[in-house]
Amino acid sequence: MDKITITRPDDWHLHLRDGDALKAVLPDTARRFARAIVMPNLRPPVTTTALAAEYRQRILDALQKPTVRPERVEGQHISTARQMQGERFSFEPLMTVYLTDNTTVAEIEKASTSGFVRAVKYYPAGATTNSDSGVTDLNKCNQVFEAMQALGMPLLMHGEVTDGDVDMFDRECVFIDRHLKPLLEKYPALKVVFEHITTKDAAEFVASAPSNVAATITPHHLLMNRNAMFSGGIRPHHYCLPILKREEHRIALVKAATSGSPKFFLGTDSAPHAKSAKEASCGCAGMYSSHAGIELYAEVFEAANGLDKLEAFASFYGADFYGLPRNKDQISLVKEAWTVPESIIFAGDVLVPLRAGQTVAWKMV
Ligand code: DOR
Ligand code: ZN
Repeated sequence: MDKITITRPDDWHLHLRDGDALKAVLPDTARRFARAIVMPNLRPPVTTTALAAEYRQRILDALQKPTVRPERVEGQHISTARQMQGERFSFEPLMTVYLTDNTTVAEIEKASTSGFVRAVKYYPAGATTNSDSGVTDLNKCNQVFEAMQALGMPLLMHGEVTDGDVDMFDRECVFIDRHLKPLLEKYPALKVVFEHITTKDAAEFVASAPSNVAATITPHHLLMNRNAMFSGGIRPHHYCLPILKREEHRIALVKAATSGSPKFFLGTDSAPHAKSAKEASCGCAGMYSSHAGIELYAEVFEAANGLDKLEAFASFYGADFYGLPRNKDQISLVKEAWTVPESIIFAGDVLVPLRAGQTVAWKMV
């Protein structure tokens, strides 16, 4: 198959950042995806519906005035060839509110009736980028979870423990036993998205859980195992959280994504950081993939002989889980290799996108 046409996809887990960074990355997403669940881990975090409304407006404003970003030309570093001025996008940001120890039931009710806050995001305190205000103890949120369960408001979980005694590569598995299972026992009807799953254990847990539990899967966890962080030297651009795992886990994730189960859907977790922040003595976690946000998944599905399953994974199951209508328009991809630029202009710096300087097998037309 050299061309596929699918319903326009949505990205159910995305970091859009703010200010100039937002303007730099938003067109990549808006060109491919109709909607995206926008993560609230700004500094300061988006902890209320009022803050989410302001952030949403900044995203909508950025859509109207897309950044004049130099076009990327194959093989070149950054080309100043042609400008992309004047592009207009129809894209809907789906907002989230950042859960803290102090989030109130009233705030959840406000979010639920807002019409634009679609989920609440749980970060364990200290787990990742801008998570210092995250939850220190899930028990502090019991009333909030009860309200969310009653309102049908999804809880998006960064599923890792942060305890110092737990090995970095075991953080997700320990989270399942220590936190997720007890939480679902207490709130069996709570809608939970186990975000960016990285292990066989998580895939199996979600597959066997009831229909109110689902998971997003990133392109990088489907494409790479932990060797990618160390091939020929340390590779900071392959460092993300949760960290890449062993090959057996990657294989299990591919199996889950291409299984046709509605419990697994697309969430890129595209998380841009400036090159200088990644290539540092203490580098930031996150990979940028929005520039090829659907194309990379096409590679995965093709390699697994599952291209016929891509549309539902990318365009149906997420919308169904969130109770939103499926998109009506379509996009097409052709099997035509293109070279990802070495870097992309990013808020006074550059960022290094996933596959920088290498090819992606599918191209959006
Ligand atoms: O790698 C990651 N980067 N994981 C996260 O959970 C956060 C994200 C970010 O915001 O940079
Ligand atoms: Zn994320």
